[in-house]
Amino acid sequence: MDKFRIEGGRRLEGTLRISGAKNAALPAMAAALLTSKPVCLRNIPRVRDIITMGKLLAHMDARVELGAMPPTDITIQAEKISDAEAPYELVRTMRASILTLGPLMGRLGYARVSLPGGCAIGARPIDLHLKALERMGAQIITTHGYVEARVPADKRLRGGHIVFEKITVTGTENVLMAATLAEGETLIENAAREPEVADLADLLIKMGAQIEGAGTSTLRIRGVSSLHGATHAVIPDRIEAGTFLVAAPITGGELVLEGCAPQHLTAVLWKLAEVGVEIRQEAADRLRVRSGGKLAAADVTTEEYPGFATDMQAQYMVLATQATGASVITETIFENRFMHASEMDRMGANISVEGRQAVVRGPTPLSGSEVIASDLRASASLVLAGLVANGSTLIDRVYHIDRGYERIEEKLSAVGALIERVRQGRS
Ligand code: EPZ
Repeated sequence: MDKFRIEGGRRLEGTLRISGAKNAALPAMAAALLTSKPVCLRNIPRVRDIITMGKLLAHMDARVELGAMPPTDITIQAEKISDAEAPYELVRTMRASILTLGPLMGRLGYARVSLPGGCAIGARPIDLHLKALERMGAQIITTHGYVEARVPADKRLRGGHIVFEKITVTGTENVLMAATLAEGETLIENAAREPEVADLADLLIKMGAQIEGAGTSTLRIRGVSSLHGATHAVIPDRIEAGTFLVAAPITGGELVLEGCAPQHLTAVLWKLAEVGVEIRQEAADRLRVRSGGKLAAADVTTEEYPGFATDMQAQYMVLATQATGASVITETIFENRFMHASEMDRMGANISVEGRQAVVRGPTPLSGSEVIASDLRASASLVLAGLVANGSTLIDRVYHIDRGYERIEEKLSAVGALIERVRQGRS
């Protein structure tokens, strides 16, 4: 398993290019299952989850062609689907494999997808995905660790009125994809409003789907009999951008982020401004960020979009360790997303966690230590902590970060960080 070694205390300065959003690219790739024609996707980040989704689609007999990198184009053609199954070996490495359920049901009326199980940040059930598909006429059984869903012979999924009890991002995406090929109209209420959901709707519309309300909490989909191919560039990664927006002020540095989407970052930009970070929008896709001097503690609560993203909570915690005063961080989306706090404490932070709240008292100097990454965003936060710490930090299990950040060590090195990948025998 590879590790990262970081020599902290270096000021970051320069320009970074933001990659395409992993969480927009994954549903876009799954959407290619809805048509027999080629779907060409642009701005795809070269990260491990994309490779896993490519393997999953290839397992179903889709042709998956990756272009030159970076940014990477990918063309997927699912002319026929010989095996509508997402096997456990792939699903256990990437929960987003569940995104194949909706399109397979829409196109074939049959799917067998391994149950993802819990993960480091919470139980993460998929009951809401399944209930919604049942309302659209699917018969679902779970057996041997798999979800088997089918519509009765000679029938298609039918449109339905879905009201999500809780906002779910991939749940909304699954139902949206299934509904594009269902018979009649589907109304989804309490839909997720994340930009990645709206981006998926944009792609589906290019493929011939009839969707109203993209980006709002009410989606109306009129099912069509078939979809065609399309070319689509996925949106920039707002979480990668947010991570670098924290990297600049904690190192006393100044960064320019190119190719980002500031309109998707409003809650993060406001919160960082409250802490005392100076951010200037220089163009539609360009932000300049630096510390505005002293950083002041500010409370934050994670929420569904357009609120402050849970995927930015761990990175914000590092900023809070460098701010003066007590910051109360409340995590409302996942029940176990503070695993990084104890690793930061080992580096010298003063964080107390109780249930869904963490209180960070700062500023505290951090000292380089050996730490273990527990999930994707926790790993990103430990990289940030390593950048600010005195001395050397060794981060174990960086495969988590490779799942979602494109060449993070190269990007950070290019702006002055001392970070290297320590390659170890593959496990
Ligand atoms: C998506 O996960 C993202 N993944 C996550 O990013 C992100 O943290 C999350 O949305 C929240 O923004 C992808 O887009 C591939 P949810 P998802 O369903 O869709 C509960 C990252 O680091 N719930 O919106 O799985 C669930 O347990 C990852 O890039 C149910 O109870 O999240 C959670 O508490 C991590 N039943 C809440 O809803 C269900 O059927 C929101 O989860 C579905 C969800």
